[in-house]
Amino acid sequence: MVCLGNICRSPLAEGILQSKVDPDNVFVDSAGTAGYHVGNPPDSRSIAVARKYGLDISRQKCRRFSEMDFMEFDHIYVMDRSNYSNVASLATNAMEASKIKLLLDEVDLGIDEVPDPYYGGEDGFEKVYKMIDMACEAIAKKLN
Ligand code: 4NP
Repeated sequence: MVCLGNICRSPLAEGILQSKVDPDNVFVDSAGTAGYHVGNPPDSRSIAVARKYGLDISRQKCRRFSEMDFMEFDHIYVMDRSNYSNVASLATNAMEASKIKLLLDEVDLGIDEVPDPYYGGEDGFEKVYKMIDMACEAIAKKLN
């Protein structure tokens, strides 16, 4: 799960998808394309909305997406088109590039990007949570 900062959207996506799959079979992680917040926990508003829905994401630590992730992971879900191009620019072959997908392409919500809630209010985090939850439900059905 990849976004820009790895403190708002992708930590939610990591926590939500991991909660829906068998942890013995599926490993979920998240990363950001930028390094501004490396080592930090998720944004307090993401922690709060996750807690509201019964998930504890407070122990996650921000890291930056790396080329090695193309080898480690079978699927790389990005939150928006900008994340897509940032990640795609690090791919070294077509097989790596084919692992990158827009998260919302997994569902039919009428939008294909998870909006960045960083500069908005709490309701943005609630909306983003619901979108990510629906997409992760679809992914989990395929993986389980
Ligand atoms: P995220 O949101 O990509 O969903 O983690 C952001 C978090 C931080 C910043 C931008 C987006 N920032 O500019 O620091």
